[in-house]
Amino acid sequence: WERPDGSPFRQRLLVVANRLPVSAVRRGEETWSLEMSSGGLVSALLGVKEFEARWIGWAGVNVPDEVGQKALTIALAEKRCIPVFLDEEIVHQYYNGYCNNILWPLFHYLGLPQEDRLATTRSFQSQFAAYQKANQMFADVVSEHYEEGDVVWCHDYHLMFLPECLKRYDRKMKVGWFLHTPFPSSEIHRTLPSRSELLRAVLAADLVGFHTYDYARHFVSACTRILGLEGTPEGVEDQGRLTRVAAFPIGIDSDRFIRALELPQVQENIKELKERFSGRKVMLGVDRLDMIKGIPQKILAFEKFLEENAYWRDKVVLLQIAVPTRTDVPECRLLYMLDFIVSDQKLTSQVHEIVGRINGRFGTLTAVPIHHLDRSLDFPALCALYAVTDVALVTSLRDGMNLVSYEFVACQDSKRGVLILSEFAGAAQSLGAGAILVNPWNITEVALAIGQALNMTAEEREKRHRHNFLHVTTHTAQEWAETFVSELNDTVVEAQQRIRE
Ligand code: G6P
Repeated sequence: WERPDGSPFRQRLLVVANRLPVSAVRRGEETWSLEMSSGGLVSALLGVKEFEARWIGWAGVNVPDEVGQKALTIALAEKRCIPVFLDEEIVHQYYNGYCNNILWPLFHYLGLPQEDRLATTRSFQSQFAAYQKANQMFADVVSEHYEEGDVVWCHDYHLMFLPECLKRYDRKMKVGWFLHTPFPSSEIHRTLPSRSELLRAVLAADLVGFHTYDYARHFVSACTRILGLEGTPEGVEDQGRLTRVAAFPIGIDSDRFIRALELPQVQENIKELKERFSGRKVMLGVDRLDMIKGIPQKILAFEKFLEENAYWRDKVVLLQIAVPTRTDVPECRLLYMLDFIVSDQKLTSQVHEIVGRINGRFGTLTAVPIHHLDRSLDFPALCALYAVTDVALVTSLRDGMNLVSYEFVACQDSKRGVLILSEFAGAAQSLGAGAILVNPWNITEVALAIGQALNMTAEEREKRHRHNFLHVTTHTAQEWAETFVSELNDTVVEAQQRIRE
């Protein structure tokens, strides 16, 4: 692998994540169209110049025939991507089941599925087996492409078994694992039937990374309490072998957002939005439609604010963008939230119902207080929205980091809007001093924070924005990726030295 000028890269990096950074759509038997997506991880790694990166992951489509698989592999190679082909049954059991119906809610403190206990136990076992099998399938593809000296960086809760599978293949492989969600308190993790197997599999990595110091601490204490291993300031020790555990808070490619604000299309969008909402303060929420994001609670807090602040009723509008995802995850996660029982697939209708009620209550013939969209926006439209927003509401019930808060700050250098941020998002650790921190479960507190944000003096907004903008533009995604990989290299060198001594 070489740079465009023919010089070699410092190191090859194999990034392994459940999902590839491109989505594939089949156009014919052998024809595929590919679109690069723009998630946090994608932009982080695209900006890393030191490494020649290849992605290994699932293309998000079922391709049962060999002709299609071959054609897709060739098309993806141009984007430096290598596919792992998972059949429908594996996707159902591994991705919908174990990953998104068990690990995702558990890691966000929402507990294990509550439906019929016997059914859960039976499906749990087959889903766990599928999870292990899928992780081995990822490992098989890595091993086909691995060369000595490569760094292999595994990502997220989908691939907790991968470090163990890779080390079984080659003990000397440099393996890092990074979790993009929270790692919960050991008291939560210990409820998981496969708690020990997962911890041991992750510990096979040389370096284990989390967004915050708290998540890293929870992981170490799960290893000490559940596995009886020794936790040290560096990580976890098992019979003289150290797995380094540390916090590496992710960032965004802030320049990409700042530069986008100059684009004619974005300028045009900004102008339109300003005209459309002239005379009203704009509040914004952008979330994947997932119960961890706390969308119903946020909207109820806005209703409370309108109830108690008649003055603001026709002077403020909430734009809530809810991006649908994981629509196939089964409806077995029942959870009491406020006075509702909610499952992912019922979330949309529940949110619609609340929005309808509030718009009916506080709307006029010409304006409604909430605009709710069930879809994603393209990049220019999103940047324009961030730029015209006066108050952003990021009120996740739990969130690994939450990069929407970073993106909003990056686009606010002329407006200096206010960020209301959940104390349960990882971003609260980095943007807490500039944001108004709230407990998203406390609707009265969030309603008060909305009032505080809307009434904040320009001087105070300036001070808070400066703090956050400096953080977002200096702690970038590129810096995050480079720090993790160089730490992984150092960890492996130190471990080799220890063995020699
Ligand atoms: C979270 C996870 C990512 C995941 C993303 C989108 O941010 O940490 O690993 O890719 O959600 O979810 P999806 O299931 O659509 O890949």
